[in-house]
Amino acid sequence: MNAEEISLEEVKVKPVVDHLNDLLANYHIHYQKLRGCHWNVKGPSFFTLHLKFEELYTAALLTIDELAERILSLGKPPYSTFDDYIKTSAIKEIQTIGLKDTLMVKAIIDDLAALIAKEREILDITAAAGDDGTNDMVNRFMQFNEKNTWMLRSFVNED
Ligand SMILES: [Fe+2]
Repeated sequence: MNAEEISLEEVKVKPVVDHLNDLLANYHIHYQKLRGCHWNVKGPSFFTLHLKFEELYTAALLTIDELAERILSLGKPPYSTFDDYIKTSAIKEIQTIGLKDTLMVKAIIDDLAALIAKEREILDITAAAGDDGTNDMVNRFMQFNEKNTWMLRSFVNED
C-alpha cells in the first residue's frame, strides 16, 4: 500500500511517517517511565500519584497504538522493537526506584514538554502535506499533554 491509495502524495507523506515513527519511539520510553513511576512511587501522595500515573500510561498505550496504526494507514511499517525505540527516542529512560515523588512528576512534565514540541512540529508538517487525518489525531494528543502539564505543574506548585 502507498499513500496515494488514500489520496496523499507519497513524497509529502514521507516526512510525516518519519516524524510519527520518531513520536512513537518517544511515547514508548515515556510509557515505560510512567509504569516505573506507578510501581515505585512512595510517600503520602502514593494513592494520588499511583492512580495518576496509571491514567497517563493507559492513555499513552492508546496513543502508541493509534500512532502505529496511522503509520500503517499511510502505507509504512511502524517501529516495533525496543532497539529502535531506545535508539530513536530523545526522551531517555530514568531510574524510578527510590526517586522522590515530586521528582517523578517533574520528570513526566519534562517528557510532556518534549512530546508537545514534537507534536507541534508534526502539526506544521501534516498541514504542509495536506494530511488532515494525522493533523487532527496529533492535535488531540497534544491537547491531552497540555492539559496534563497544567495538572502536574499544579501538583508540584509550579506556575
Ligand atoms: Fe498497577
